Amino acid sequence: MYTTAISILLASLLVSIILGWIAGNKASAIVYSKTEESLNRKARQLLRWTVILSVPAAAVIGSVLLLTASGTAALWADRLTILLIAAIQLLLLWMAAHPRLRRIRIATNRKLQKPLDVRLRSRAAQPALIVPFQFSALGPLTGFYLFWTSRHPFSMLDTAIPLIVLAIAVLALWTVHLNRSSRVSLTGEELPNRPWRRLFNRLGILVAAIAIAFLPFNMAMKNSLLADKISMAEGTMDYGKGSSMVSHSHPHGETAVQTASSGAAAAPVSVDQLSGPREGKADVTYTLTAEKKTIQLSSGKTVEAWTYNGQSPGPELRMRQGQLVEVTLINKNIDSGVTIHWHGLDVPNAEDGVAGATQNAVMPGESHTYRFIAEQTGSFWYHSHQESKEAVQKGLFGPLVVEPAEGLPEGTKDVAVMTHIWDNAGMAIGRNDGIERMTIAPGTPVRLRLINTDDWVRQTYRLIGADFQVSAIDGTALNEPGDLRDVSLTITTGGRFDVTFVMPETPVYLAVGPGAAGGKLGILMSSDGNGELPIVKGEGASFDPLHYGKPAETAFNANSAFDREFKLILDNSLGFYNGQFGLRYTLNGELFPNTPMFMVREGELVKTTIINRGMVEHPMHLHGHHALVLSRNGEPSTGSPWWSDTLDVLPGDVYEIAFVADNPGLWMDHCHNLTHAATGMSMHLMYEGVTSPYEVGADTVNHPE
Ligand code: C2O
Ligand code: CU
Repeated sequence: MYTTAISILLASLLVSIILGWIAGNKASAIVYSKTEESLNRKARQLLRWTVILSVPAAAVIGSVLLLTASGTAALWADRLTILLIAAIQLLLLWMAAHPRLRRIRIATNRKLQKPLDVRLRSRAAQPALIVPFQFSALGPLTGFYLFWTSRHPFSMLDTAIPLIVLAIAVLALWTVHLNRSSRVSLTGEELPNRPWRRLFNRLGILVAAIAIAFLPFNMAMKNSLLADKISMAEGTMDYGKGSSMVSHSHPHGETAVQTASSGAAAAPVSVDQLSGPREGKADVTYTLTAEKKTIQLSSGKTVEAWTYNGQSPGPELRMRQGQLVEVTLINKNIDSGVTIHWHGLDVPNAEDGVAGATQNAVMPGESHTYRFIAEQTGSFWYHSHQESKEAVQKGLFGPLVVEPAEGLPEGTKDVAVMTHIWDNAGMAIGRNDGIERMTIAPGTPVRLRLINTDDWVRQTYRLIGADFQVSAIDGTALNEPGDLRDVSLTITTGGRFDVTFVMPETPVYLAVGPGAAGGKLGILMSSDGNGELPIVKGEGASFDPLHYGKPAETAFNANSAFDREFKLILDNSLGFYNGQFGLRYTLNGELFPNTPMFMVREGELVKTTIINRGMVEHPMHLHGHHALVLSRNGEPSTGSPWWSDTLDVLPGDVYEIAFVADNPGLWMDHCHNLTHAATGMSMHLMYEGVTSPYEVGADTVNHPE
């Protein structure tokens, strides 16, 4: 409903601007009517325009009212200004213009072909008749501007400036028309109708307006240029609010070490010190060499990829819970550098693999070793976090599976299903871009680890031919997941679902892709490797974790006393990022590096309310922590505890999530639509006292997004 309301609002504003412009021109020209008859006709036309313009204006009001139906004021409070403008527009049209037009109609109802007398002409020139129509373009235009620029938290100034500009424009128009009408009534002279001249004047005003707007535009562009060196440990801090905390605001530029919200400051510690075990023999070791390689998909299509060990997806890293893992990364020839980030695995901060935050990018010829203990079990993935948008797109990723310490149940068929969309080669599961056939004996327990690597695309999956369970989300097992059938699964960018079932006698088909059952991409499992693709109709209901599975005890819940509470507002706005103009996606009204960091202390219980005011979904990914979903849109999560590291926040969604700050460091928190992250939709969670020797920016090798 949110998306519908927002779309209606936007469309009505646009329609208003266009219609208002046409009607405004007509209104200001009726004074040139030569005869009573023609004035009468034009007045009737304008009366019709009053009605026409009222439709989009009413739609603006209606759509904002629809938005207010959601209890969360952050979703709509600022749009009330747009509603107010539309209300003024309606008032002007019906209280000022309409009665005057009616009177002109009555005065001219004899429809004589004789020239207009002075009285009628001056009536037709009244500002109160003309300006409402012109306002019908300018008002919505202002609304449109506010729509795209208003930020949260709202600043009075941001709203006041466009409103003042609107008021000045209206006053100026009013004065022009007042002068015109008094010229008519004083001198009685007929106003010369010079349409070309009027057009010329209008163009002049447009050019002047653009010239004036150029200044702030240019300034905004300059201001958006990123500094050559940025330390992520410095910047604006948000201490949230909470039972034991006072909320502070801190000026830009302080470091986390210098400030503590209350009590003694934590002793400074560098991210480098927050490493996994540096000593000791590893239980599992891998070497991953990043290199460019042409890879071939099953259809024969080739892709110029960036790979780990010459393959993409990279080799599957498998380990058991509790094992000490050592991975050596070597960069052979990726010029922009590489790292490895263990997406979803809560490793110590120094092992997190974010260029410019926890390490320097590994440049060609260099290497870097990661060591950590695999503390969780489940499905994860790894990918480069240097130029991550390009790196992931080109193939620098792979699956990572942590089995329970005692291993998987005997005989389990365990398959990582990594979907990716390749530039120019389309969608594939691993290397397979068609139907893959798999032989599985009936009775075998099957676990499909669905991993969506794509930038920007929520991936749809359907399992046909067996009852199944979604037994884990984002690497965390669900409690008592129930049987599902005819349900489609949608996984957001970076998210993972584990699907389990027992192989029946008959074939089972996993369909992947939009309208998932297109029969073009999937895995057909059967006892003999043969079998027909099932015919699937419809999309099936879509799976929702909010009420799935059975509740279980958790260390905290929605009723716990939280040490800190943060608000994270996702929005879109038109503006600049690093000198480039475009649609931008903001976090609490800002783009990196101006996004305020969330400040916490070790041991705190932290609640965050995520609100998506924008028009597209954002898979929000917090590194180093798993958050428990408490509620969505006011509806408590009542099924299995639902822990997430990559949460798909749809337009209009309000999520309450909570996590324990138990992993000190500097942790990225960003949208996993990597295109969004690369244009500033990125911030971080920061433990008080943590410092980082690394920097990002043009003067460094580090460009994490
Ligand atoms: Cu999968 Cu910060 O990323
Ligand atoms: Cu996003």
